[in-house]
Amino acid sequence: MNKHNISTFLLTFYLYIFFFILLSNTSSGAHYQYESCVPKNCGHGPNVSFPFYVPGLQESYCGYPGYELTCEDKFPVLKLPENDYVVDDIFYENRSLRVYNAAVLRSEGKECPSRIRNTTFLPSQFDYVNSTPLHLVSSCREPLPDELTRYIVSCGSPEHGKNLTLALYDKDENLTNIAMEKCEENIVTPVEEYINKGMVSDLEGLLRKGFLMKWTAIDCSVCENSGGRCGFNPTSHLFRCFCRDRPHAVSCKPGKLLILV
Ligand SMILES: *[C@@H]1O[C@H](CO)[C@@H](O)[C@H](O)[C@H]1NC(C)=O
Ligand SMILES: *[C@@H]1O[C@H](CO)[C@@H](O)[C@H](O)[C@H]1NC(C)=O
Ligand SMILES: *[C@@H]1O[C@H](CO)[C@@H](O)[C@H](O)[C@H]1NC(C)=O
Ligand SMILES: *[C@@H]1O[C@H](CO)[C@@H](O)[C@H](O)[C@H]1NC(C)=O
Ligand SMILES: *[C@@H]1O[C@H](CO)[C@@H](O)[C@H](O)[C@H]1NC(C)=O
Repeated sequence: MNKHNISTFLLTFYLYIFFFILLSNTSSGAHYQYESCVPKNCGHGPNVSFPFYVPGLQESYCGYPGYELTCEDKFPVLKLPENDYVVDDIFYENRSLRVYNAAVLRSEGKECPSRIRNTTFLPSQFDYVNSTPLHLVSSCREPLPDELTRYIVSCGSPEHGKNLTLALYDKDENLTNIAMEKCEENIVTPVEEYINKGMVSDLEGLLRKGFLMKWTAIDCSVCENSGGRCGFNPTSHLFRCFCRDRPHAVSCKPGKLLILV
């Protein structure tokens, strides 16, 4: 091929790409996977999109395995092996979410500590951000030593407060020195911060405030910034970027291809 032929070939090639893009942008119906992965919500709470999805509201390919949410009383709920958490907010821009224990929602202020189960581990899909362990200690032998009375918390109505519960932060020396000796039950739950010199005055409020977690699934921003919606192919176990025209590997923009030519 001489120089003239090559440039004719390139011109034709570019024209093809130009018309291809023009056609795919003007065609009316977008690809069905792009359409079905539109963000949805449970009624209350944040809009749900990749890596999260709500089975029944969204297709499983719109999310990533391990990030299923369910709607409960119109709130999105994340069910982890030990506890269920209400998802208060999802910050897609920095891949974090604020959650609180669903026991707070379900008990409506009654007997809230008794429905909270231990938090000993998190699945690999999530990680804590700046949370601190709070111990809810109960089944104590009476009389309670003076050092411990200031840790007594009430949660809910008085008739449900018969079982004495103490709330102590992980780093409090009185936890291991005295409380563990006097009391049998110990439930560990993450809370956002160490407050008020280690005194919990409003346990329900503290639990309702919740805490931040970050997620570890693949970042969606490259696909999303190109106009796509992220998803997952359960057969190939690969990330997909659903675009108006069809699913792509990473991004809806064919930019890299043109630069290479
Ligand atoms: C959810 O998305 C809709 C449509 O984009 C938007 O109008 C609404 O404000 C969003 N809701 C929340 C809680 O972000
Ligand atoms: C993510 O952004 C939100 C809103 O700006 C913020 O409240 C939250 O602390 C951030 N998360 C992390 C992990 O920094
Ligand atoms: C442990 O209890 C004693 C007596 O009530 C108190 O003076 C001390 O500050 C407590 N320790 C912590 C870390 O709060
Ligand atoms: C008090 O503790 C006992 C034993 O742990 C439990 O069976 C009971 O339901 C608790 N009562 C309340 C009101 O939480
Ligand atoms: C909860 O976890 C703590 C520390 O991991 C442990 O000491 C305690 O026995 C556990 N409580 C229950 C009820 O399993």
